[in-house]
Amino acid sequence: MIVNIGDLREAARRRLPRFLFDYVDGAAYDEKTMRWNEEAFDRVRFRHRVLVDVSARRLGTTVLGAEQALPLALAPTGFAGLLWPQGEIAAARAAETAGIPYCLSTASICSIEEVRAATTAPFWFQLYVTKDRGIAKELIQRADAAGCSALLLTVDIAMRTNRERDTRNRFITRSAIGVSSWVDMALHPRWSLAMLRAPRARFGNFAGIAGVGRGLMSQGAFVAANTDFTLNWKDLDWIRGQWKRKLVVKGVCAAEDAERAADGGADAVVVSNHGGRQLDGDIPTIAALPSVVERVGGRIEVLFDSGIRRGQQVVKALALGAKACLIGRAFLYGLASAGTPGVTQALDILKHEIDSTIAHVGVTDVRELAQRREEFLVSA
Ligand code: FNR
Repeated sequence: MIVNIGDLREAARRRLPRFLFDYVDGAAYDEKTMRWNEEAFDRVRFRHRVLVDVSARRLGTTVLGAEQALPLALAPTGFAGLLWPQGEIAAARAAETAGIPYCLSTASICSIEEVRAATTAPFWFQLYVTKDRGIAKELIQRADAAGCSALLLTVDIAMRTNRERDTRNRFITRSAIGVSSWVDMALHPRWSLAMLRAPRARFGNFAGIAGVGRGLMSQGAFVAANTDFTLNWKDLDWIRGQWKRKLVVKGVCAAEDAERAADGGADAVVVSNHGGRQLDGDIPTIAALPSVVERVGGRIEVLFDSGIRRGQQVVKALALGAKACLIGRAFLYGLASAGTPGVTQALDILKHEIDSTIAHVGVTDVRELAQRREEFLVSA
């Protein structure tokens, strides 16, 4: 029976080959930051309030100038189309139905144009900047042509890291599928049969670009070899010049960096440590959020992610000043277990948890959580 995000995680574990479940579920090195992201929410506690009429509640808010039904967005995640056939489209459709933004990753299986053709609501596009700036420029132009309402520039991959589960499984790194992976796939026939019927997996946004190759493995090698680790603040100016709609810098934890992003013309930052997938030992994001909000909250929007598995955690992040929360693994577990209905189920679970939590703290509108936090929030 599926009651919470943890149950969806178990369903995903059963359905996916081990190397894919580990890719989603894992993080860098000892996975400390991933654990801390969740644990640190426990140091922020509620103090429930009573005898407030909470019969009418509002969960909708405005993010980057657009109304949305919940204070959530689906975070950009690479390879979603390996978890479920055309997984990016499946997830984008669930987001559209729920009335929240979907963010497509540069490293997606479905391309920008495929997601555009399969959905009607504007989605966000996440950019990884390639060494060949011509490719980055082309991706930005394609996102513009597709009507994407925001560009999220991910800045927290300073260098390659080691997700040790992926290394052990030799996920992505090998040039061909090894025997152990064939066995792994054979042991998960529901996933394997579904993927056999799906269009051949490739990095949709890179297919057709000269020199990239046609298979997923060679495209993966191209993308890895072309990620630009020289990326720096000057590049933000360049990107700001290329993109006229909302620009979001994703992956800051230091208030100074958030301020620089605002100075560079960003409309928002996402306080994020990539779900603990990059720097192990990094500060949990809920601990980083207050100083970022204090520094830039009056100038630009502050969004939040990393560690969200419960609606209660969303309410805590909103109370500490986040405008909305992006969710990564929470929706991927749903996607991997049941496609669009699985993502919808994940969103429904979080929605009910948010709804019940705000009622218990005596607030009827998520937009008021931050200004009224002293009424109901205490630190442990
Ligand atoms: C990610 N994330 C990510 N971020 C990004 O900017 N581009 C990407 O391609 C990816 N890919 C990706 C794959 C997978 C499997 C995961 C789990 C995450 C990071 C993502 O956008 C988000 O910051 C984290 O997922 C948030 O943490 P939680 O919600 O997963 O704990």
